[in-house]
Amino acid sequence: MSTHGVFRLLFLLIPLFSPTHSTTASQTSNIFLPTHLHHGDADSLSSSVAAKSCPAPNPNLYYHPVIGILTHPGDGASGRLSNDSDASNIPASYVKFAESGGARVIPLIYNEPTEKLLKKLDLVNGVIFVGGWAKDGLYFETVERIFKIAVQRNDAGDHFPIYGICLGFELLTMIISEDRNILEEFSASNQASSLQFVENAKIEGSIFQSFPPDLLKKLSSECIVMQNHHFGLSPEKLQSNQKLSSFWEILTTSTDEKDEVYVSTVSSRKYPVTGFQWHPEKNAFEWGSAKIPHTEDAIRVTQSAAGFLVSEARKSTNRPNAQEVRDNLIYNYIPTYGGKAGKGYDEVYIFK
Ligand SMILES: *[C@@H]1O[C@H](CO)[C@@H](O)[C@H](O)[C@H]1NC(C)=O
Repeated sequence: MSTHGVFRLLFLLIPLFSPTHSTTASQTSNIFLPTHLHHGDADSLSSSVAAKSCPAPNPNLYYHPVIGILTHPGDGASGRLSNDSDASNIPASYVKFAESGGARVIPLIYNEPTEKLLKKLDLVNGVIFVGGWAKDGLYFETVERIFKIAVQRNDAGDHFPIYGICLGFELLTMIISEDRNILEEFSASNQASSLQFVENAKIEGSIFQSFPPDLLKKLSSECIVMQNHHFGLSPEKLQSNQKLSSFWEILTTSTDEKDEVYVSTVSSRKYPVTGFQWHPEKNAFEWGSAKIPHTEDAIRVTQSAAGFLVSEARKSTNRPNAQEVRDNLIYNYIPTYGGKAGKGYDEVYIFK
């Protein structure tokens, strides 16, 4: 994606490198542009561009994908913004994450009437379950309901991706195993880590397919993903659970402060469902902890993970009514700056 961006930038600068400015061109000759293959004048450049028609985009893909993000109970700011018991929130980082991949977002408010929630679910092409702490009651039931609908849609021939991030992954694991006590405790709060790829990890068709090769390599040697969890699952526990091991394929593991190994990225064997114990959205969009990596490579991690989600959502066959989509988009809401306290989420959308 970034290579493409660089190419487009250079394309705009073509007049600078055209043969009439041959000294500039020869000085930058290690960068090859299509125009360098021609040795004509500026006219042949413009005519060759004009003669080229723009190929039609793949008609099987949907270029207006919408991602549903399920809200999480509370104000996302430990009561600093709202103590309303009905309040729920989406940290804006998840919204920006989906948007940076090229999608729009519809908030799925976990405690709104079921009928309303299901109607909104019909307007989206994929879902994110966010991080947090809520593991029971209506929240658990809502995640379970949406997950089951997503599986049904995939079974019925749609391609409907899900990203379960941190708590989102933990909840999916509880739901799939049908065991609410399946999680184990780990010491991995507020720390950056690497990702260790398991032997013969199936990269093709997984989230890591969208990572540039050099970045994939750095994932296992540098701490460029953010962890913030007390719970998780050891690879042994996942493998020994029949329901979990038949659903999930382990892609990576990571190690906590006590040298305990936990599953850090999984991919469904059958469905476009990805589980993260880590936070792909934080690197580019959260600033409330000094531990969040913000290096250029860390930002590429966020961008690559966002790109994969939306590339999956474009495969969805759902073509919702455009006005109904607009009526429900996150643009109808205004985020609140909660990060001024120097901790927690920087911006949150609060629903009440
Ligand atoms: C929420 O309650 C806490 C504890 O009583 C209080 O400190 C805080 O100011 C309240 N928040 C709001 C937005 O009123």
